[in-house]
Amino acid sequence: MTSVLEISGLKKSFGEKKVLQGVDLTVPEKKVFGFVGRNGAGKTTTMKVTLGLLAADAGEVSVCGETVHYGNTKTNRFIGYLPDVPEYYSFMTAMEYLKFCGEITGLPSNESKGRCEEMLRLVGLADEKHRIKGYSRGMKQRLGIAQALLGRPKLLICDEPTSALDPLGRKEILDVLVAAKEETTILFSTHVLSDVEHICDEMALLNDGKIVMQGSIEEVKSKRRSNAVEIQLEREADAKTLAGTFGGFQVIKPEVLLLKDAAVVSDVLRFMADHDMPFVRMEKQEATLEDVFMEVLKSGSGNGKEGK
Ligand SMILES: Nc1ncnc2c1ncn2[C@@H]1O[C@H](COP(=O)(O)OP(=O)(O)O)[C@@H](O)[C@H]1O
Ligand SMILES: [Mg+2]
Repeated sequence: MTSVLEISGLKKSFGEKKVLQGVDLTVPEKKVFGFVGRNGAGKTTTMKVTLGLLAADAGEVSVCGETVHYGNTKTNRFIGYLPDVPEYYSFMTAMEYLKFCGEITGLPSNESKGRCEEMLRLVGLADEKHRIKGYSRGMKQRLGIAQALLGRPKLLICDEPTSALDPLGRKEILDVLVAAKEETTILFSTHVLSDVEHICDEMALLNDGKIVMQGSIEEVKSKRRSNAVEIQLEREADAKTLAGTFGGFQVIKPEVLLLKDAAVVSDVLRFMADHDMPFVRMEKQEATLEDVFMEVLKSGSGNGKEGK
């Protein structure tokens, strides 16, 4: 599998503060990749090193197979970047702004108009005639994505594109990112887990200066050690017997039990079969990313990459 971004052993301190303490990260091609971590975890720092805007103390970053050097932006020809707080010439319209960006980044002028229109359509701003100064935050973010995609980057880096938005604005951005996946690989940072659950193919969790988890959403969810199982019995009396026989049951309703410890499921099933206890349904409660992260962070397994 080809990867667009490879980070290995990345370290960065600010004075005494060790922010990145050996970050290893691989972003595969044509995926939406969620880069998750609480505020101050070091997400923006990692992105700035990737863009050659910040010098690393140790480690290596490569984009499309080429090593990134601080201050030398050759690898940035592969990257489109949406900073956390994008700035604009607010007297321009979206079209004027994109054409201007195309000009300064060397987009051939015969291509420019068509490409700018295409990108404005992608982000839902094609019919917007107002100047940027009248834009909402979400519209500005969408314009930023259009601009970042203009030069057909191999990697689109978006720094917390949804963080300051209301639910509608947030959904619009997520939809745009999913649409942009046709064009490129997307790395976006967030501290909002539901955004990751909705649109990402893969994700990594940055905590205490290291990646403590990386993989597909399914892989990450399956890391959860205990998947609870809910059992609804036909007869209340059987539910009572089960709860009395096995320790780990929580009584949800008189005939519905929640088994926290999935390890004893087969024992419970055998017991039910032996004692002829019919059931209405039995289902595994799916872990949310939130559950998994709480578990990982609590267990303090911040000692390296799990999975992959
Ligand atoms: N230029 C800087 N000088 C000193 N400290 C910094 C600088 N940039 C970031 N930091 C600190 O590094 C930590 C990580 O910041 P950042 O990468 O912005 O986190 P995130 O984007 O995950 O919220 C924070 O504690 C922040 O205060
Ligand atoms: Mg940040």
